[in-house]
Amino acid sequence: MDLPSPQLAWIDGQPLPAPGGATFATVDPSTEEVLAEVARCGEEAVDTAVAGARRAFPGWRDLAPPERAGRIRAVARALAGRAEEFARLETLDTGKPLSLARSEVDGTVRYLDYYAGLADKIHGESIPLGPGYLNYTVHEPVGVTGHIVPWNAPLNMVGRSLGPALAAGNTAVVKPAEQTPLTALRFGALCREAGLPDGVYQVVPGFGTEAGAALAAHPGIDSLTFTGSVATGRAVARACADRIRPVVLELGGKSPQLVFADADFDTVAAEVAKGIFTNTGQFCDAGSRLLVEESVREALVERLVARAHAVDCGPGGDDPDMGPLISAEQRDRVRGFLARGEAEGARRLGPGPESVPRRGYFVPPTVFTGVRPDMAIAREEIFGPVLCVQGFRDEAEAIALANDTSYGLAAGIHTRDIDRAHRLAAALEAGYVMINEYFTGGIGSPFGGWKESGIGHERGLEAVHNYTRLKNVVVRVAR
Ligand code: NAI
Ligand code: MG
Repeated sequence: MDLPSPQLAWIDGQPLPAPGGATFATVDPSTEEVLAEVARCGEEAVDTAVAGARRAFPGWRDLAPPERAGRIRAVARALAGRAEEFARLETLDTGKPLSLARSEVDGTVRYLDYYAGLADKIHGESIPLGPGYLNYTVHEPVGVTGHIVPWNAPLNMVGRSLGPALAAGNTAVVKPAEQTPLTALRFGALCREAGLPDGVYQVVPGFGTEAGAALAAHPGIDSLTFTGSVATGRAVARACADRIRPVVLELGGKSPQLVFADADFDTVAAEVAKGIFTNTGQFCDAGSRLLVEESVREALVERLVARAHAVDCGPGGDDPDMGPLISAEQRDRVRGFLARGEAEGARRLGPGPESVPRRGYFVPPTVFTGVRPDMAIAREEIFGPVLCVQGFRDEAEAIALANDTSYGLAAGIHTRDIDRAHRLAAALEAGYVMINEYFTGGIGSPFGGWKESGIGHERGLEAVHNYTRLKNVVVRVAR
């Protein structure tokens, strides 16, 4: 693949080096080889990007909504036409299986189309105040939106928040994760080719503590959308608090998958395995805790361990079942949890470390049994292919275990009892509940966390209002 090095920031429709020419390396996690050097942006580059986005804002805001929709759709068509190229680039930068990268690029196209369709439907209401008054609301764009994006689904997560931000008439500055800047950057050039006005989509690659912190604290952005860890979420929320600026936080999870004895046993093992092994467990809504009714616990664990042994791990480009983790840091972090689980007395099942390639940041798919609720592996987000199994005797215990977490992002329920399914859906403290299929829903479904999993929702119709501000106009009509 043609990968000029260094890869430059994308500002005002042009590639731009970081001041002083500083760079950092991005690596292929499947091979541990450097793919390219990338512009290492800091305060100065962020400043330039925000200023350009500010200049582009009035023109973009004032486009007639159908025209704005058309421009976003043109970007969607351009991406659809080059989907394979972007999927391959994503696979190189993340190590994820090619099929998964393809589906994420398709999802990005869908985000753009979905929100393009909303651009001319972001309307307010009129409020009856009695004769002699006209009272109406308007949803105006906020201005320049900041987006700090993680590495687990890089381009897809750009699309998720960029779509509604642009549709609402904002311009955007995006800070991709330092592990995976390549697709967001190439997308900048694609936007220009597709006719998006310069400055509407700006990209500042760099480290979190440099480009990320500079963007979060910048006085020239009017909202911030962040996806990543709780600790960094707190830091960017503080920066936003200082400026009384709205922030959307999509943070981690420790999402339970609840399995009852009456569930369809043939599909349930596949669903549970999909929920934790897809993307090597690196999804915020990974179903990392299996809570299973005691009477079927052993049988289900047996099936899951068999599935773990059958998972084929390899370089993303070979399109295996499971690729590597994103980085040496994440691999060491997950290995740390594996060791800690064993040290705390849990039983580790599944293929051993010798089963995965030696080169690349691989860890084997793992199932822990004998997990107590107070263990670190049961409480902390591991962000790897590690499933923790706990048994329950009845519905009440299932609910108590499921809710015994500081997180509240997603939950899966597997049962054929429709009453139980809805009782549980009501009782679970999670923003997203999936019944009898994990990762179900799609981009029209509002997605957001309760508790420490975040603030606000992405996806769906509502997400557009992360990027609007409400104005109420009241008129006293002369008689
Ligand atoms: P992180 O939260 O530090 O990184 C996410 C994004 O924030 C990246 O673009 C990063 O450059 C940026 N960032 C980092 N520090 C920043 C700062 N001080 N100011 C502004 N931006 C900053 O996450 P990291 O360290 O890559 O992963 C650690 C853990 O976070 C993972 O093991 C996982 O548990 C969780 N995580 C959750 C994600 C999710 O989808 N909710 C995605 C990525 C990580
Ligand atoms: Mg990389």
